[in-house]
Amino acid sequence: MSTALVILAAGKGTRMNSDLPKVLHPIAQASMLEHAMAAGRALDPERTVVVAGHEAEQVRAAVAEIDPEAEVVLQTEQLGTGHAVRQAQAALEGFAGDIVVLYGDTPFVSPDTLEQMIAARARADLVILGFEAADPARYGRLVMQGESLEKIVEYKDATEAERAITFCNSGLMVCGAEVMFRLLDKVGNDNASGEYYLTDLVELARIEALTVTAVACAESETLGVNSRADLAMADAVFQARARAELLELGVTLMAPETVYLAFDTYIGRDTVIEPNVVFGPGVTVESGALIRAFSHLEGCHVSRGAKVGPYARLRPGAELAEDTHIGNFVEIKNAEIAAGAKVNHLSYIGDASVGEATNIGAGTITCNYDGVMKHRTEIGARAFIGSNTCLVAPVTIGDEALTATGAVITKNVAAGDLAIARAEQTNKPGYARKLMDMLRAKKARMSKG
Ligand code: UD1
Ligand code: MG
Repeated sequence: MSTALVILAAGKGTRMNSDLPKVLHPIAQASMLEHAMAAGRALDPERTVVVAGHEAEQVRAAVAEIDPEAEVVLQTEQLGTGHAVRQAQAALEGFAGDIVVLYGDTPFVSPDTLEQMIAARARADLVILGFEAADPARYGRLVMQGESLEKIVEYKDATEAERAITFCNSGLMVCGAEVMFRLLDKVGNDNASGEYYLTDLVELARIEALTVTAVACAESETLGVNSRADLAMADAVFQARARAELLELGVTLMAPETVYLAFDTYIGRDTVIEPNVVFGPGVTVESGALIRAFSHLEGCHVSRGAKVGPYARLRPGAELAEDTHIGNFVEIKNAEIAAGAKVNHLSYIGDASVGEATNIGAGTITCNYDGVMKHRTEIGARAFIGSNTCLVAPVTIGDEALTATGAVITKNVAAGDLAIARAEQTNKPGYARKLMDMLRAKKARMSKG
């Protein structure tokens, strides 16, 4: 059976107190919407429809980046979850498979759970995802009779007895497209909130003698985000899970709770991560690397045996080959550092390539930006760049070339050549003492006068 995802993302998220629509707030540097869409993608959906409302243009732009095939439909007024799903009907014209309803603000549902829901569809017309709530609070309650789900009662509409139920509605469901839209037509808004409840589908299905069941998942998967505090908690949950996975894979985290990971951080086994390292999106670190304390990495690739930090910054496009060393207070951006090359102290290497086994002296700067355009610096293999060198791009340094300390290199240096570009030193014998004596005498005169 083919599936289509309908992802609800029109809600305002008032309690986020933000100009950014709630579903675009990030957890581990990917929006909640991206997390939800990624989980849904595991079902290999034929179509994906996102229902947007508040700040719909921002949502539309985000969706286009996450999945250009996904369609965004507008729910101009937020009249309830049932009303929201109906907005996807036109976009799903002609689709006869199963519809999986996801929430954009429920980012942690696992692909495994979604697959269990699909599996349960073989025995029921409508499948709801429920969970045992530690604190059921204001969740909708699932009224079960054995395997069969009789109805969902919203907290506001529930009796005391129903409020005592702890098996709650996550909001996620699977239903055949034809049944779903036929039943949605019948949903009214005569309830405590005056909203069109998606949850009414359960009772409407029962009236038609259709079968309805619930699948249970861990409460952590249904964690919804309504406030910044929830967002911080969701991030913490993600971090704890991702760190545990890395430890399991054979990565050493010296102080796991101080390492901040992104949703897509990949680290190979036997790599050691020292305390207080931050991973932005798009980082892969191969096996057997060492990332030392207080380093910040994003959009980069670190190969086997490389040593990074402490206090190193790898920015997008930093490509470190095997056994490279990037030391303290070094920034690398959009640059390939070939095997065995070293940039150990206080340098900026941007828009550049550094050849094999080349040594970049302390304080070397690639001057890549002229105020308007960016230019490249190419450095060959086994070259030696003296300390405190400015490489004014575009510029090329050949293999085994050498630049003297303190040089401002504006012209290419051929392979094997030595470039010196600094004012020559003159020594004045005895002048230092003379100068000091003169200054001390002057000070003595001033304090008398
Ligand atoms: C809903 C469920 C409740 C469940 C809870 C789980 C209904 C009637 N109730 O309640 O049983 O326990 O979720 O979190 O479905 N949305 C729209 N358009 C709308 C309204 C909502 O897109 O008009 C979206 C929201 O952005 C959100 C999701 O649907 O992603 C859920 O809406 P929300 O208002 O949070 O529903 P709850 O009242 O929490
Ligand atoms: Mg909610």
